[in-house]
Amino acid sequence: MERQKIIIDTDCGSDDAMAIAMALRDPNYEVIMCTAVAGNVRMKQAAINTLTTLEYANTYYPPVYEGCDEPLTRDWVGAAETHGYDGMGDIGYVPKRLKVSEGNGVLKMLEALDNNPDKSIDIIALGPLTNIAVALRLMPETMKKVRRLVVMGTAGLGTGNVTPLAEFNIWQDAEAAKAVTKFGFDNLIYVGWDACLLDAMLNKDDIQRIRESSELGKMCIDSNCVLLNMNTERFGDKFLDMADPAAMAAALYPECIDKCDKYYCEVDTNDGPSYGAVIVDYYHFSGKKENAYICSRLKADKFKEYIFKTLGVE
Ligand code: RIB
Ligand code: CA
Repeated sequence: MERQKIIIDTDCGSDDAMAIAMALRDPNYEVIMCTAVAGNVRMKQAAINTLTTLEYANTYYPPVYEGCDEPLTRDWVGAAETHGYDGMGDIGYVPKRLKVSEGNGVLKMLEALDNNPDKSIDIIALGPLTNIAVALRLMPETMKKVRRLVVMGTAGLGTGNVTPLAEFNIWQDAEAAKAVTKFGFDNLIYVGWDACLLDAMLNKDDIQRIRESSELGKMCIDSNCVLLNMNTERFGDKFLDMADPAAMAAALYPECIDKCDKYYCEVDTNDGPSYGAVIVDYYHFSGKKENAYICSRLKADKFKEYIFKTLGVE
């Protein structure tokens, strides 16, 4: 059976790395390209970290293209406190041989959509939505050909992780997220940060199993050392909230989804404490047409089963 084609748009930090490796090692999907965007780290560093990940996943090597290095209007901020300055824990992970491919990631994304049948490609977005927003401004009719746009983004039905109301990927470029949310995608699915919390967090046993399984498993855990140290202090024990792996699992293994419903959503781009919040009209007060699915909870056992399976953890 032909594999489902996917494009991964990423600000490759350490949780993106685990998610990308999972996708590359799922035989039901074909990653036809990765496009880098500024977020956790600057765009060029995100591209470099993606190359490192392809080498560790050690399956096939789709092209990695450079995309936007600045949010649409606001300044880039980054997330060094969570992923380290290089995005991979600042412990020396670098690509040994792979290089970035020639061409602009946004244009290459549009080219792939135009050169393939309608609704034959999914885009999985793991970073701020700058590349996606530019693509839909450049060629809206081409972007209508996207089968599914699955985004790690929003607070879901919970709280923010960078402000009380906003999740990082949306907050880093809320103007882009607003354009994407209003665009009218048939299948826009936001996997909220809440989907990777509570029992979906990797606990110390999960962490040990993955780390001891292979060089890939060790990279997936050790590159998250900054987040792990922060969580150990915060929770008093080892936990990893793996947002991008949660989004990837929801996209590629929907059997792990526990709660995902469609709502009318709006992105707040007003300056102030609610900038970057995604307002979910849960009770449909607005009467406006639902424009996005919000995946707010995964079945923890099935989610972890998928991570172990795709990373080759016994
Ligand atoms: O809020 C978590 C998200 O922001 C993840 O995608 C993480 O990699 C960062 O991009
Ligand atoms: Ca990310």
